[in-house]
Amino acid sequence: MLRTHTCGELRLSNVDQQVTLAGWVQTVRDKGGVLWIDLRDRYGLVQLILEEGVSASNLFEAARTLGREYVVKATGKVVERKSKNPNIPTGDIEVRVTALDVLNPAKLPPFLIEDDTDGGDDLRMKYRYLDLRRNTVRRNLELRHKMAQQTRIYMDGQGFIEVETPVLIKSTPEGARDFVVPSRMNPGEFYALPQSPQTFKQLLMVSGFDRYYQIVKCFRDEDLRADRQPEFTQIDCEMSFIEQEDILQMFEGLVRHLFKTVKNIDLPEVPRMTYAEAMSLYGSDKPDTRFGMKFVELKGTFDTVDLTSGKNFGVFDSAELVVGICVPGGASYTRKQIDELTEWVKRPQIGAKGLIYVRYNEDRTLKSSVDKFYSEDDLMQWVARFNGEGETCQPGDLILIISGEAAKARKQLSELRLEMGSRLGLRKPDEFKALWVLDFPLLEYGEDEHRPGEGRWFAMHHPFTSPKPEDIPLLDTDPGAVRANAYDMVINGTEVGGGSIRIFQRELQARMFALLGFSPEEAKAQFGFLMDAFEFGAPPHGGIAFGFDRLCSIFGGADSIRDFIAFPKNNSGRDVMIDSPSVISQAQLDELKIKPVA
Ligand code: AMO
Repeated sequence: MLRTHTCGELRLSNVDQQVTLAGWVQTVRDKGGVLWIDLRDRYGLVQLILEEGVSASNLFEAARTLGREYVVKATGKVVERKSKNPNIPTGDIEVRVTALDVLNPAKLPPFLIEDDTDGGDDLRMKYRYLDLRRNTVRRNLELRHKMAQQTRIYMDGQGFIEVETPVLIKSTPEGARDFVVPSRMNPGEFYALPQSPQTFKQLLMVSGFDRYYQIVKCFRDEDLRADRQPEFTQIDCEMSFIEQEDILQMFEGLVRHLFKTVKNIDLPEVPRMTYAEAMSLYGSDKPDTRFGMKFVELKGTFDTVDLTSGKNFGVFDSAELVVGICVPGGASYTRKQIDELTEWVKRPQIGAKGLIYVRYNEDRTLKSSVDKFYSEDDLMQWVARFNGEGETCQPGDLILIISGEAAKARKQLSELRLEMGSRLGLRKPDEFKALWVLDFPLLEYGEDEHRPGEGRWFAMHHPFTSPKPEDIPLLDTDPGAVRANAYDMVINGTEVGGGSIRIFQRELQARMFALLGFSPEEAKAQFGFLMDAFEFGAPPHGGIAFGFDRLCSIFGGADSIRDFIAFPKNNSGRDVMIDSPSVISQAQLDELKIKPVA
């Protein structure tokens, strides 16, 4: 070993010991006769001291020439500091240097390697290996390591075995776009990188493995966002001879184990909500339940009366849905602030046509942007509807209303709700609210990308998800109404995991593929292996996959998963450090029988 101790471990109890340390020079402070060097490694920071007249003169002069990020080895005696630094664990001591070796000099780094860096995003990504020297980034990866370790401990304790599944697999038309890899030995043919190990884990169940898991890389060629990377990691799991309830219990257990062991938080029992409830109360299938502001419908539902129509307000009269939230303390918003919110919802990203408000003033008077159409008595009925539905709407609050086509209005109000939650400081990164969302629809209708202008059914989760047995008759009559045995786990408004009970009979699987527009030949060509396997004794099974990067970022209280990935891609899917993707040589293209783009 080149060192006896790390830079983070020396304390008063080490005083008088002779030690050798190695690390990176964080700073050199030259105060004339005294020179202090902050030496850093992964474990911390320690102060070295050299004094003119006390330290050998050649040593003193050598120390003066050290630059930032030089890699050095220093030997010396641990002494108690005169002025202590309570901000670092080694702040009571310093090391009086008697020998100093430069193991490797360093160029001046392109940005400050400190907690508050002056480096912009692009620069830090280009020199990611330097960014990773910073405490904040390193701590994120340490958290990730702990999460992976604790996942393995829990899963192993529950009898799951980790099985590796292949990375070169077969392209399939469902789901996101595949990344493909040309096969040299099979000219003109391509492998695909897995979007998830879904079919393999189901085959492992047919093989009798019973409880499988894998911390596994997945690849999806989709548009990137803060919580999406083209390659990401799942905690992928599957179990046999279980029902949905068993999966929910088992994996709620995993999440609670992680909170306890990694953050020492006792996560309470995870509440459950159906997809239908989530959509009507929050306008989202991944609601942030750290705060209220639930949706209240004013136009009436199957059990409430219409409080908006018949008052000559055409916008509400013609709307499919009139829905609002009550913003606590919002009545103090000025007209200007409300106008700004209106512009906010009208931006193309949100797409609302407008925003109606009702100010419930402290003196119990009501003032709205639709006073021309609705009397104070009318508006008081709106307030009463909020209070009647369990939302508290009190003097001092502000009701914000969006109307229009139901699905769009819900989505727009959901965005506004999150924005108000953020503005009011209700989305605290160190508060954790988990939620199971259950009973997702099996199918959703959308445009067929291969036949523009034409629609077809898509699997909302994936084509292997089982319909609820009681809804199977609806497959022929009303496919959109069929609910799936599918569930998501949501934490703080982020979908951290999703799974389902699977189809395990060939006939039902074939029926599902037919509904999704596959011809029997296409289904056989794409997924024949799975349907064949179902005929050789497939047990009832189901599973779930957690987005591991997302879980880590939530545990770390951050919005972006990039900070929890050692070498992430940027928003254009590029690794700017290694400059990838890149063109390949003509020789490689020839070997693969691929023609270059003209
Ligand atoms: P799903 O597609 O819902 O399910 O993915 C599971 C979880 O993976 C995370 N995730 C992502 N994280 C980062 N970047 C991405 N591009 C990305 N895409 C998804 C999400 C998501 O909840 N095979 C099924 C699981 C199953 O049925 O067992 C699957 O992959 O947190």
